[in-house]
Amino acid sequence: MKSIQGRKIVLAVTGGVAAYKAAELVRLLVKAGANVHVVLTEGGARFVTAVTFQALSGNPVWSDLWDARMANNMAHIDLSRDADAILIAPATADVIARLVHGLADDLLTTLCLARDCPLIVAPAMNRQMWEHPATRRNVALLHQDGVTVFGPDSGEQACGEVGMGRMLEPEALLAQLETFFGSGRMRGRKVVMTAGPTFEAIDPVRGITNTSSGKMGYALARACVVAGAEVVLVSGPVALPLPDGVRRVEVQSALQMREAVFEALPGADVFIGVAAVADYRPADQAEHKIKKSGESMTLTLVPNPDILAEVAGLPNPPFCVGFAAESRDLDKYAEGKRQGKRLRLVVGNLVQHGLGGDDNQVVLYDDHGRHPLAPASKVELAARIVDHIASLMLPPSQITQNG
Ligand code: CTP
Repeated sequence: MKSIQGRKIVLAVTGGVAAYKAAELVRLLVKAGANVHVVLTEGGARFVTAVTFQALSGNPVWSDLWDARMANNMAHIDLSRDADAILIAPATADVIARLVHGLADDLLTTLCLARDCPLIVAPAMNRQMWEHPATRRNVALLHQDGVTVFGPDSGEQACGEVGMGRMLEPEALLAQLETFFGSGRMRGRKVVMTAGPTFEAIDPVRGITNTSSGKMGYALARACVVAGAEVVLVSGPVALPLPDGVRRVEVQSALQMREAVFEALPGADVFIGVAAVADYRPADQAEHKIKKSGESMTLTLVPNPDILAEVAGLPNPPFCVGFAAESRDLDKYAEGKRQGKRLRLVVGNLVQHGLGGDDNQVVLYDDHGRHPLAPASKVELAARIVDHIASLMLPPSQITQNG
């Protein structure tokens, strides 16, 4: 199961300005395949109406402890029974205080007290309320009680002040939920990866590059984080947002990429080379812009180091994964690269299928043979590839085949 797909999430919206962001969060959760049931407190309903949440979630909205719509009249019990989590977003200072004292005087607090699923709160309040000793005590108690706290963030607040206390943005909350529900199969592992193209300068304004979008590498980086890994992503120039939880080192050329990889490598358990590294770079880089002369010109190229082959050739290499994007004879070239570079796993694809787009069709090559994966989005494929890596890293007796 994907980390959010098919999950039942009870989203409680309490009375803070950030309630407007909860509407977007519902939309994102539903888009990710979650079944969302909104509990709206009286304060929350002052900011956004139940109609909005009902329309976005496709489910009835619950506000009243005495709501007679639930067959047994016990919404406070039934709502959490088959839920995967209750997420309170935004959670006001007041609701946090009431939770830690075990109050049960409305639907939300009663629901939380009677729950048998994880409780997550995403605080949202003015910076002084967040820093008040009472709130500090209350948040410490929440942690003690095993409640998960997402955020808050710091920045500009609705009141015009700047500081800690803003609710995390809906995208960040979704990303944290994905990690929360992730498999944890890469927990404790450090992953170093490369992604995107490289740019090999000819002069200050020109260079050689390729059409790699970086989408597959970025999706893999995120999937590793969701599976619990610490990830360092050495990235060539791409136009993609940094995935939540990933540490990115931005580089341009293959030589810079190589240097950044070796700097990040100590302690790495896994190295994944996804970047479309330029095989050649101009022998010389002109200091100033080259002027046209009307004559033909020759550019001398020299080979770049093969970063992946160098990492895999270390005396004690991490678990090395390579990518092979080919235009023909995929099996021959992908398996050839695996053996030639001494890799544990190669992810092969035909360029006609994946380049630049959001979907791809790949075949995994490892010591046990070839494993075609069903065509899917790069995000879904990334989760499956990470799962495959995690399986291969298990002690031999525990390895099961997938794909
Ligand atoms: N790779 C690398 N450094 C290079 C070239 C490739 O780390 N200088 C890595 C890529 O990130 C990828 C794998 O090696 O994981 C295969 O890259 P690819 O460009 O398909 O293969 P090459 O070995 O360069 O062979 P060719 O270009 O001839 O297909």
